[in-house]
Amino acid sequence: MRTETGQVFHLKDYTPTAFEVERIDLTFELHPTETKVAARSILKRRKGAAADAPLEFDGDELTLDALRIDSIDVPDSDYDVGPDKLTVRNLPASDPFEITIETTLSPETNTQLMGLYRSSGNYCTQCEAEGFRRITYFYDRPDVLTVYTVTIIAPKDVPILLSNGNSLGTGNYDAGRHFAAWYDPHPKPSYLFALVAGDLGVITDTFITMSGREVELRIYVEHGKEERATYAMDALKRSMKWDEDAYGREYDLDIFMVVAVSDFNMGAMENKGLNVFNDKYVLADPETATDQDYANIEAIIAHEYFHNWTGNRITCRDWFQLCLKEGLTVYRDHTFSQDQRSAPVKRIAEIKTLKAHQFPEDSGPLAHPVRPATYKEINNFYTATVYEKGSEVVGMIRTIIGPAKFREGMDLYFGRHDGQAVTIEDYIACFADVSGVALDQFMLWYNQAGTPLVSASTTYDAAAKTLSVSLEQTVQPTPGQANKSPMHIPLAFALIAPDGTVTTPSPDETGHEGGVLELTKRSQTFTFSGIEERPVLSLNRGFSAPVNLQIEQSAGDLAHIARHETDGVARWQAINASATDLLIKASKVARDGGDLPSADDLADILIAATQDDSLEPAFRAQVLQLPSEADIAREIGSNIDPDAIHTARRFAFDAIARKGEALFARLSEDLPDGAYSPAAEDAGKRALAAMALSYVSAAVDTPSRAKAAYDAADNMTMLAAALQILVHQFPDAEETKEALADFENRFGDNPLVMDKWMSIQAMAPGAATSERVIELMDSPHYNAGNPNRVRALIGAFSAGNPTGFNRADGQGYRLLAKVVTETDPKNPQLAARLLTAMRSWRSLESGRQEEARRALVAIQSTEKLSTDVSDIVERTLN
Ligand code: PHE
Ligand code: ZN
Repeated sequence: MRTETGQVFHLKDYTPTAFEVERIDLTFELHPTETKVAARSILKRRKGAAADAPLEFDGDELTLDALRIDSIDVPDSDYDVGPDKLTVRNLPASDPFEITIETTLSPETNTQLMGLYRSSGNYCTQCEAEGFRRITYFYDRPDVLTVYTVTIIAPKDVPILLSNGNSLGTGNYDAGRHFAAWYDPHPKPSYLFALVAGDLGVITDTFITMSGREVELRIYVEHGKEERATYAMDALKRSMKWDEDAYGREYDLDIFMVVAVSDFNMGAMENKGLNVFNDKYVLADPETATDQDYANIEAIIAHEYFHNWTGNRITCRDWFQLCLKEGLTVYRDHTFSQDQRSAPVKRIAEIKTLKAHQFPEDSGPLAHPVRPATYKEINNFYTATVYEKGSEVVGMIRTIIGPAKFREGMDLYFGRHDGQAVTIEDYIACFADVSGVALDQFMLWYNQAGTPLVSASTTYDAAAKTLSVSLEQTVQPTPGQANKSPMHIPLAFALIAPDGTVTTPSPDETGHEGGVLELTKRSQTFTFSGIEERPVLSLNRGFSAPVNLQIEQSAGDLAHIARHETDGVARWQAINASATDLLIKASKVARDGGDLPSADDLADILIAATQDDSLEPAFRAQVLQLPSEADIAREIGSNIDPDAIHTARRFAFDAIARKGEALFARLSEDLPDGAYSPAAEDAGKRALAAMALSYVSAAVDTPSRAKAAYDAADNMTMLAAALQILVHQFPDAEETKEALADFENRFGDNPLVMDKWMSIQAMAPGAATSERVIELMDSPHYNAGNPNRVRALIGAFSAGNPTGFNRADGQGYRLLAKVVTETDPKNPQLAARLLTAMRSWRSLESGRQEEARRALVAIQSTEKLSTDVSDIVERTLN
């Protein structure tokens, strides 16, 4: 969105509207460049509103064709109108009254993908957060809930006409045109409105709800792609069942529809009864989708479906409360996926994602609280902090009050606030009320940005048989928040005795029962009595709190945890900590000179876990995956030289590969039998085989094994894994060129698959990649107007290739700056999101910092920047 004013919005300024909307009737006459919209709303003065209060509606790039109140044209003197605002005065003294607004839109030329636009010739809408105001003037804010009736009129060659709610019927309209009408009985805010129209294929199914109602399920895709939607349909039915079982939440309309579109700024959108999806998160078959794609589809289908209760039935009072629906819904989709798959493996993936995306955000210039107090552009707050940290905060409530009280609190929330637009305070009050636990200090998790650092040390007193655990917390300053208060941090833990026995006792101090230390002060000591021998502390088990942990623990203690922890996640945490310690040391040596430290002990730990057949393959694959270059950079924190990190990591990787060569050779060929199934068990086997293949390829140092795996692959998971090994480890090999050409040949007409081909190349480490990226931008597979293509190439390069993007001469930064400024006029949301790849620039060594700063300043000095990009660039430079 473009605003000339550079206005800042503040949480503390919330005020309700002067009018309530009793209902709205929308009529669309669809046309590529001249769609007519008539919006008829019934308005009523809010109790307590001034009798002469004007009506102030939002707009964005709109032109007004007609304005009537109770069917009479409003005289010019009674209103002011501009593209982004409509103000009407001298309104009828008695209410309710009816206001009719007519506007004309050009979906064809709407490249922002907000409001009504066209994708592959079909019409679709995106209204969250502020897209409805690009359709008609309205109270485009989440606290104005009303009932929608929608009539869509279109030429007959646009056969499918969809909107929210239940169908009221279809029929002929006039010569050549037909119509469909929809009615959504559930009051909703404008951001949940949706319309889809076009010539689409469909698959259908039904779901019987817990009270025995039959719901019709439909997934719409482009013609010919129907088969590829069957997994999404299966995931939808499992999601509906899970929400009934886990939360007692039943679906509430006669029909639930999902539409896949190929031009979409985000993953998907939870419009009431009519979810719109990026086709990447709907379409899958074994030949074209990886196991990760299947897992993403399952998670996002679930996420959008779960929004029906957490987001739609109970929505946000204002956009500051975004985490109310997003953090909670991410928490729900995480636990769903944990239930559908292996819980520890899924949890490990969540921890990795949180650390890779949210931690750097929280420690850089774009840091903001889970509930921000100000914003210039709300589109820039759909962040890892709001989503992922927001989910962790929900998980901490459950840890603090326990699973039973958590469920009770959720039941109370659904019962108390159904149909309302509420705040985080309303949500938290439900848990405080059911548990009697004071959660005031806990609110800091919503209001205070930054990742807490918890330092821990233990002292064992053999004579007294006591163990004391001393904890200290600090939170670094973040933009706008110089001084931090101590937070309420629930740290799950276990004590592991020398013989390997794992216990979860309670500390002597009053506090949480069994296995959780509640840190609430700046520093605190917990004592355990009756401890016969010095145990090893396994702290922040399962990553119960999203904190950085600094704990004096020897390599031997970490190995002890890795061997004996009964909690799989904690076991992985210990192994990961050992790997991180070594890689940090090695990176510093690679930067400053000297002999690289031996990776022998680490290799032994990894190989021992990999050989352990009692562990599931997916877990072993996670263990084998070394911390990424970005992970190591984040842990180092400052004066980063990405090339040194690459060298160090590669050194350790090769050492592990050589030591475990025979094992990796065997595992690389241990693939599941039978036809491809995306189920977790087979996917885990493939993950382990692919990981082993990458190690054994490094050990033998020839592309032949990867090429053989590429040639033998009968599914996209193994095909893409083999291609990636070829491109990343053997960039100049003939085999690599052959595989790249073969892949292009086979999948050249499938853009979603070619996205993988582009991403793999864009993430190839080394200075040469930026030139390859520039070449690929000219290839027919790239499309600067399609967000998926841009993210697959430019996003993968800038956010997924530390050595390539951070090339010392600054070419990577200049490339990103060019794409950002060229994308901004067409699609500011996409441009702003790409630019966030620069957020950690100040942690680089000084030469790269200077290059990065120049590129940022060049963006900043571009004329007519959107609010989206100027907001990000200003905060990044500050
Ligand atoms: N609300 C969507 C989700 O997380 C995300 C989204 C935001 C989509 C804004 C489009 C625009 O489920
Ligand atoms: Zn969401």
